[in-house]
Amino acid sequence: MNILITGGAGFIGSHVVRLFLKSYPKDKIYNLDALTYAGNLENLKDIEDAPNYTFLKADITDAEEMMALFEEHDFDKVIHLAAESHVDRSIEDPLQFVKTNIIGTLNLLNAALAIWKKDFSGKLFYHISTDEVYGSLGSEGLFTEETAYDPNSPYSASKAGSDHFVRAYGETYGLPYIISNCSNNYGPNQFPEKLIPLFINNCINEKPLPVYGDGQYTRDWLYVIDHARAIEVIYKNGIQGETYNIGGFNEWTNIDLIHMLCELIDKELGRAPGSSKKLITYVKDRPGHDRRYAIDATKIKNELHWEPSVTFEEGLAKTISWYLNNSEWLQGVTSGNYKEYYKKQYL
Ligand code: NAD
Ligand code: DAU
Repeated sequence: MNILITGGAGFIGSHVVRLFLKSYPKDKIYNLDALTYAGNLENLKDIEDAPNYTFLKADITDAEEMMALFEEHDFDKVIHLAAESHVDRSIEDPLQFVKTNIIGTLNLLNAALAIWKKDFSGKLFYHISTDEVYGSLGSEGLFTEETAYDPNSPYSASKAGSDHFVRAYGETYGLPYIISNCSNNYGPNQFPEKLIPLFINNCINEKPLPVYGDGQYTRDWLYVIDHARAIEVIYKNGIQGETYNIGGFNEWTNIDLIHMLCELIDKELGRAPGSSKKLITYVKDRPGHDRRYAIDATKIKNELHWEPSVTFEEGLAKTISWYLNNSEWLQGVTSGNYKEYYKKQYL
């Protein structure tokens, strides 16, 4: 079996590549990634010499290149994670999100269709999406697989667009597909533009912790390795043409999460209790900021017997100690262009 994983040098993708190399030693695992600011081969240093691993540096926005790679490597399965993934960047540059998330996905769909259409048996296009496509919840309720799409940011609109195209290729051309929509991930190797790694990095460097708006926004957090496990379960046992929601059964307001993070970091760094909390600074809100996300993950739990294996307290502690023990990684990704991004976004 030739398995193509796109975006495998990114945060979630690198954990998926590692898990699949281990779980499927007889299959060939191809990691296709353009190595944008978010892609980093350091994330995969430990497995780069695995005999069943091939890295392909390629850009999904290049239609000809995608077609040529599908012709050359005869992929049987695609797990598509490559994307622009940060909401704040999408507010600055929506077109880049349309190019990567919509056009890029279409290029992969077209290449898969062209090569697979004579015989779809044994083929699968598995598209990794987000709970943000469902929009924002009030104080009650959960997103189910039946919740109507209602995206509010250029990022979530572009992910919703890509989901619709995947489903449309299934309905129109018979392309075998599955889609999963996951809640907020956290864990090792996440780029420090997202809340948790950004705040860990700022605590380490004793820089302000910029809380958007009133800090009462709510997210449902899942440890990245549990997301990778869910992806494997869906890949193996999911039903074609179905959607699966993945979540942590773990809702936190941002400010409560930040307080817990600050306490854990102070302990880890041997700082006086309350030191990191003093860095909390309320700043201007994110435009179009979704108030609450929360996933009903009953379907994957009941039908595919998946549930999170790591508690939030364990996961956060592991994450903090990973960042503290990987200061070279952190320094590597926060030099250069990151400084420009940080200045524009926060200073
Ligand atoms: P990330 O930003 O860390 O990684 C994205 C990867 O895609 C990077 O390696 C980057 O180099 C690559 N990439 C970007 N543009 C590309 C292009 N044109 N061609 C080839 N490769 C390209 O993202 P992530 O947080 O790991 O998210 C992975 C996927 O999971 C995304 O599709 C995202 O929408 C989805 N998702 C993320 C979360 C989350 O909390 N991070 C939650 C649910 C779903
Ligand atoms: O829900 C899944 C989504 O989760 C994924 O699809 C996205 O790729 C991923 O980035 C994430 O989106 P969010 O916008 O929820 O994540 P982020 O880490 O950017 O923000 C989490 C919350 O923290 C959100 O309410 C905004 C707030 N925040 C974020 C940053 C970066 C702050 O208060 N300050 C900040 O500096």
